[in-house]
Amino acid sequence: MERLTSPARLMIVSDLDHTMVDHHDPENLSLLRFNSLWEHAYRHDSLLVFSTGRSPTLYKELRKEKPLLTPDVTIMSVGTEITYGNSMVPDHGWVDTLNNKWDLGVVKEETGKFSELTLQAETEQRPHKVSFYVDKSKAQEVTKELSQRLEKRGLDVKIIYSGGMDLDILPQGAGKGQALAYLLKKFKSEGKLPVNTLACGDSGNDAELFSIPDVYGVMVSNAQEELLKWHAENARDNPKVIHAKERCAGGIIQAVGEFKLGPNLSPRDVSDFLECKAENVNPGHEVVKFFLFYERWRRGEVENSEAYIASLKASCHPGGVFVHPSGAEKSLIDTIDELRKYHGDKQGKKFRVWVDQVLATETTHGTWIVKLDKFEQSGEERRGCTASVKFTAKEGEGLVWERVEQSWSEESKLKDDNSSWII
Ligand code: GLC
Ligand code: MG
Repeated sequence: MERLTSPARLMIVSDLDHTMVDHHDPENLSLLRFNSLWEHAYRHDSLLVFSTGRSPTLYKELRKEKPLLTPDVTIMSVGTEITYGNSMVPDHGWVDTLNNKWDLGVVKEETGKFSELTLQAETEQRPHKVSFYVDKSKAQEVTKELSQRLEKRGLDVKIIYSGGMDLDILPQGAGKGQALAYLLKKFKSEGKLPVNTLACGDSGNDAELFSIPDVYGVMVSNAQEELLKWHAENARDNPKVIHAKERCAGGIIQAVGEFKLGPNLSPRDVSDFLECKAENVNPGHEVVKFFLFYERWRRGEVENSEAYIASLKASCHPGGVFVHPSGAEKSLIDTIDELRKYHGDKQGKKFRVWVDQVLATETTHGTWIVKLDKFEQSGEERRGCTASVKFTAKEGEGLVWERVEQSWSEESKLKDDNSSWII
């Protein structure tokens, strides 16, 4: 990606459902732990890639439901669609390679002859992916029969069974593994092959990810039977692939630690921020920690202590300004003072705060601008803003907050209650 001028230190390529996202955890705790770790320690020099079976439509729905970060690369529809960046610019080069021995009409015609196959939703039928549901007991037999028929019709396809129910038919050159191999080749040709790559998954369509050479792999603890079976038969002796003890994103963090790919302590696992004040020399870290503290303060999970307020005020410039997303300007110090009355106001309210795309740049010597997106979830309601924070580094004093400017994200503009958004 253009954002990085040298090879990524770590590229994480992760499946979403039941890997990055734990659908059995309404609190999204492991995902939030991963998010803080990523923004704190990796965002600035690493790449985040999501690789999902979902179509763009269902992927966008998941983004609304769950606190997902913004990936650098999004691979959708089981490795048949690759897009880059925030605005999801499609990789047309990839699509071109998928037309080899592929004919959507023929796939539809042949699959229509199988009564065991139930077509999935229209959104999940894509130019290079046709998807069905099929009973576990019928899956093997149908796969075998169907691949013979399609071969006879001159096609070269890949049939993948996932989650004990989904059957996808793709061109042979497609799939999550091939898409990853394509990305690695592309980065290599640009002289930016990531130093380490970690693939993460839980089901059948993720198996290919674990057979790409030189890539570390983690099957999360809750991995599906079909993936574990594939692993036992094909990759058991590969020391670069582990079956984690922890579920979903917790398993990803565990793998980062076990393979020694970099820091694996999420800021969410640190209970007292005042204690680690001394090592705060990185402006991106300041921002991640501040908003985490802010979440805990409003949830009433940190003590209502003057020491916290005093410490925050001490790191603000006396003339520091905060521009609220509504446009109102206030003094930063006054804003911190006001925090007192909000201690614990979100207790029991499903209140979470997370930051995304935290990127710091030094503008002049000792002056930093950190850009980020900040989100607040309160019950069912989510709001977000883009923010920039200006810091100055003072000899012996650490970083000083000079100015915080926020503006509502597109989706948040329309809501008119500004009262509960403090900072
Ligand atoms: C996602 C897709 C579905 C696909 C499944 C397995 O759930 O929405 O179409 O069959 O992943 O790859
Ligand atoms: Mg999955």
